[in-house]
Amino acid sequence: MKIGRITVSDRVSAGIYEDHSGPEIENVLRDFFGNAVEFKSAIMPDEVNLISATLIKFADELKCNLIVTTGGTGISARDVTPEATQQILEKELPGFGEIMRVQSFAKVRTAILSRAVAGIRGKSLIINLPGKPSAVRECLEILSPAIREGLAHLRGEDPHASKSSAK
Ligand code: MTE
Repeated sequence: MKIGRITVSDRVSAGIYEDHSGPEIENVLRDFFGNAVEFKSAIMPDEVNLISATLIKFADELKCNLIVTTGGTGISARDVTPEATQQILEKELPGFGEIMRVQSFAKVRTAILSRAVAGIRGKSLIINLPGKPSAVRECLEILSPAIREGLAHLRGEDPHASKSSAK
């Protein structure tokens, strides 16, 4: 399985802060999927055209099964990750953002300040996460059952094959 991780932050890309959130995506997803995963990574400023071009490259050229972004989902003028993602999605999955916000809100009241979106392009599942490393883990844990099932669907597997053949 190939996973793309994209850190979106003006300060990280300028070298002002170290990237903790991108590596955290890798830590959490290695916990979920083990070592049979190849990661492609990128760090970039909050520039809408750069983010959408990188998402297209990771999906169409690198054929990543899963692409996870971190950062740029909030409400400041420079936060444009959801817009960049929506531009290149073929199908949006609104439930991903909804459940992240609802379940994170129980723990962190500011969770509703994230406008994260998710969806499908080709055979890639694309998910926005907020920028904090703690939010990366919290949100990926919330989403993990849907990520697993979504990836199986995109691989052309029917996770309910045995049940439906019994009908
Ligand atoms: N979601 C979780 N689970 N945990 C968090 O700490 N932080 C919130 C929110 N979502 C947070 C969270 C905050 S403070 C902000 S501003 C928004 O995500 C947007 O963050 P971003 O602009 O770094 O993407």
